[in-house]
This record gives sequence, structure tokens and C-alpha cells, in this order.
Amino acid sequence: MNKLFIFDTTLRDGEQVPGCQLKSEEKLEIAFGLESLGVDIIEGGFPVSSPEDFRSVSLLSEHIKNATVCGLTRAIEEDIDVAANALKSAVNPRIHTGIGTSESHIRFKLNSTQDEIIKRGVHAVKYARNKVAEVEFYAEDAGRTDNEYLARVVEAVIDAGATIINIPDTTGYCLPNQFGEKIAYLVNNVPNIDTAILSTHCHNDLGLATANSIAGILAGARQVECTINGIGERAGNTSLEEVVMIINQHKHIMVKHGIDTRQIIPMSKAVSEMINMPVQPNKAIVGANAFAHSSGIHQDGVIKNRETYEIIDPEKVGAKGSEIILTARSGRAALNFHAKKLGYELDPETLKAAYKDFLEVADQVKCIEESHLHDIFQNIKVVA
Ligand code: KIV
Ligand code: ZN
Repeated sequence: MNKLFIFDTTLRDGEQVPGCQLKSEEKLEIAFGLESLGVDIIEGGFPVSSPEDFRSVSLLSEHIKNATVCGLTRAIEEDIDVAANALKSAVNPRIHTGIGTSESHIRFKLNSTQDEIIKRGVHAVKYARNKVAEVEFYAEDAGRTDNEYLARVVEAVIDAGATIINIPDTTGYCLPNQFGEKIAYLVNNVPNIDTAILSTHCHNDLGLATANSIAGILAGARQVECTINGIGERAGNTSLEEVVMIINQHKHIMVKHGIDTRQIIPMSKAVSEMINMPVQPNKAIVGANAFAHSSGIHQDGVIKNRETYEIIDPEKVGAKGSEIILTARSGRAALNFHAKKLGYELDPETLKAAYKDFLEVADQVKCIEESHLHDIFQNIKVVA
């Protein structure tokens, strides 16, 4: 099995969500949770961006002992000096430096040329390698960068000392096959690629971040950059829980990660509360409805055998279990299931009568509560 490194950027790219900025102590609390969850690398912040972000990376460096602590920089000496300073107490420090490589970044943002960008990237990597042993290079907007040029950039920065190469789909532009082909192109065309790990960093502007990350892993990437609940600027980043559970569900992907999946839902709740951003109910894996069944046909199937409509055992991700929700779309099997839980034994005739009353109540209220059920059963003289 190949090791897949889980690089969590909840505290850097994730925290860029407007209004969700965290204080250093809050970041440390989440970082402890991430370390216990089993992530390999924690990107703590962008130290040059603000004094508080500098403090965050310094605090993580002092306290996080198992995971690598990473700080982001631009390909600028001052950024690298500040990041190295923030990382000075880390057991395993990593500087994540890089520069835009797409035509639009080079021409409009950086007002530069392709050759000049390679020089700046190489210089940043060499400069960072003088400060820490582990340097990751990002080719910003790699998703829209021409593959041939991207391969030249990657070869040069590996020669300069980068051992992890991040291929961000910064704007969430790629289709899964295009992103997979990009990674495959680098695997096959960069002569020194076997001395580095390729990393995916996909954004979700078209809802494809997870699919693109998986395509990248299938093509040979061995690090995935992600956030808890998929939080991040605009439509967010790849969500950690989705990638991990896809790998667990599809064993043929043949990579091994160190995530303790039972901590996924507690971690999702902790992050959501800390940044004050609710998780959408239908969010895969961690949404409130991820294991809730409300239509009659599905409920009947799940009551007979959970796997009929569930591919994940909820307890494996830290959920209490599957839920059978009673609504006007529920069937008799679900009503009987809840009746039994409340201690009522209904024979077929009584169940039929109770179901008729149930539908009348359910058409009036959105969700049936226990108190409604007691009223329904007691009205037709069933005793618990
Ligand atoms: O999306 C992106 O390109 C980034 C880089 C700074 C790594 O977040
Ligand atoms: Zn990003």
C-alpha cells in the first residue's frame, strides 16, 4: 500500500472564509484535534500576513509534536524569513512557498515572463531550504497552467530542493479527467519526479474539488490538501472527510492514510462551532441528514437491512447511527419501528389505523415528534 499524506489547511485556506478568522488559541485547539484525527501536515497560517497569524504558527510549532507544522509564504525572501521564524520551535517544520504559473497570473498578476517565474520559484525554494529541511512548492493556478510549462517549473524547483510539489486547481476550473491527466503528465514527463511527492490542492468552484483530488490520487499524487467540512474561500476546498471515506469505500484506490475516521464528525462539529459556520444538512459524511432516511421505500429498506440505502456505517465516522425520520413521506414500517422503540406493540389492524391518523398529523407538521406519536397511539387506545 502507498502512503497518502493528509495535508490539512483548515487553519490557513479554510480560515480564509470571510468572517471566520480564528485567534491563535482557537487555532491551537483545532490543531490538537487535527493531530489526534491523524492528519500528517497542519498548515497553520500565512505568518507574514498578520501578527496574529505569525503567533498562530509559532504556537502550533511549540505544541504540535507529531504532525508537521507548515507555514505559507509567497516566493519572497521576507515572507520566508518570517515563516522560518514562526516555525523555529517546530519538531517537523515545513515552508510552503510558491508563485503563480498560469498565463493570466504571469501576465496580469505578476507582470512577468515564464522564464522569470521559474527563476523566482527556484530562488524561493533555495532560500527556504537554507532555513528548514522540508520545502513544499506550489504552482498557483496550476489547473490553468499549460502542462509542458508546468513540467519545466516542477523539474526546476525539485532541482532546487523542493520535496513536495503542490499542483493547485486554484480556481476549481478542471474536470476530473483533465486534473488526473495533469498529474499523470508530470509523473511521466518530469525527469526528477521520483524524488518528490506530488500534492493535490483543489478548489470547489464547480463542485469538483473532491472528484479532482481523487483523480489526482489515481494518477499518482501522494499528498492531498483539504479542509474539515470543505471550508475555504468562495465555494471552499476539498473536504477531508469526503476524500478519506472515498478511499475507505473504494479499496482498489490502494492508498493508506492515517485518519481515525471515528473522529470525523466530532471534528466537523468542533470546527463548525469554532468558526460559527453551520454545515449544510445534506453535506456528504458530516451533514445532519447524511444518515437520515425519511421516505417510506428507503425506510423500509434500511429497517430490513441498513446497507440497502447506506454505503457507510455511521458509527465508523462517529455518528450515533442511522436515523428514521417520520414525515408525511414515511411508511408503515417506519411508524411501526418507532412504535416499538417507544414500547407500543401494534397488530396489523391497529398499525393501519395508527398510520391513517399519523398521515393526517404528518401533513400538518413538517416532522413528527415523540409527543405526536404518543397522542396518536393513545387516541386509538394502544398502551405502551
Ligand atoms: O489555491 C491555491 O492556489 C493556494 C495556494 C496558495 C497553495 O491556496
Ligand atoms: Zn487554495
